[in-house]
Amino acid sequence: MKPSKQTGPDTGAEPLLRIEGVWKNYHGHHVLRGVDLEVAPHEVVCLIGASGSGKSTLLRCVNLLETVDDGAIWLGRDEITDVGTDPDEVRRRIGMVFQSYNLFPHMSVLDNITLAPVRAHRWTRRDAEARARELLDRFGLADKAHAYPDRLSGGQQQRVAIIRAMACEPSLLLLDEVTSALDPELVTEVMGIIRELKDSGMTMVLATHEMGFARDIADTVCFLQDGVLLERGPAEQMFTEPREPRTRAFLQRVLESRRL
Ligand SMILES: Nc1ncnc2c1ncn2[C@@H]1O[C@H](COP(=O)(O)OP(=O)(O)OP(=O)(O)O)[C@@H](O)[C@H]1O
Ligand SMILES: [Mg+2]
Repeated sequence: MKPSKQTGPDTGAEPLLRIEGVWKNYHGHHVLRGVDLEVAPHEVVCLIGASGSGKSTLLRCVNLLETVDDGAIWLGRDEITDVGTDPDEVRRRIGMVFQSYNLFPHMSVLDNITLAPVRAHRWTRRDAEARARELLDRFGLADKAHAYPDRLSGGQQQRVAIIRAMACEPSLLLLDEVTSALDPELVTEVMGIIRELKDSGMTMVLATHEMGFARDIADTVCFLQDGVLLERGPAEQMFTEPREPRTRAFLQRVLESRRL
């Protein structure tokens, strides 16, 4: 299936991320089936779809945590699925945050954030700490620099995980269900940080089950079903008048489940 025309903001720029005809299977089961997607600089794309539709797998392929079976992925002008690519270099340019925050429990917040820049990317400790403190300050966690993760709320831990992903100044941020492990009252503070990143021009691809959040934050929403990117469009249009009956049926089911 050829991709429909992109509907993100028309920046006139080349896409920052280009996914072309990506296939992925596990044990003969096709989890991604010819996915095409372009993400423009500063665009926020939300992936929605039922559990098992392939959202996390797609994000993991972009971050090279999975190899693709067919197709290719470009970051700017570099084909990152090329065999000669250094995955560490790609992960410096692409930050990723997961549902479970995965902070190292035996390290302070500051050490969690500076670990990758110093160890993997050879920043000086001084530069890494300056960057970490700037981010902690910006996101209201300056007083937690020396705290250990178990002294932080879930919302604070997830904010630290997002800051950690931003530490190497990536050009793209991937967020996989970053609010789903949180109590409802903590969701807002994590959404706030993502909103601020969007306002500062960060390019992001998010997988989320929070339709309200997707509608609010996304420029473009993509609906996946059984590994196929069935429909994409501007957030408002996707939620009010999706073209595909299957998108409509999915959104209807989500709406009904919320009413139960
Ligand atoms: N490492 C793996 N080995 C085998 N199968 C896998 C693996 N990872 C994912 N799958 C399968 O691939 C399919 C897509 O999974 P994926 O996690 O990408 O879905 P998802 O859309 O992120 O779902 P959710 O909304 O529940 O997070 C599922 O059928 C899943 O069981
Ligand atoms: Mg998932």
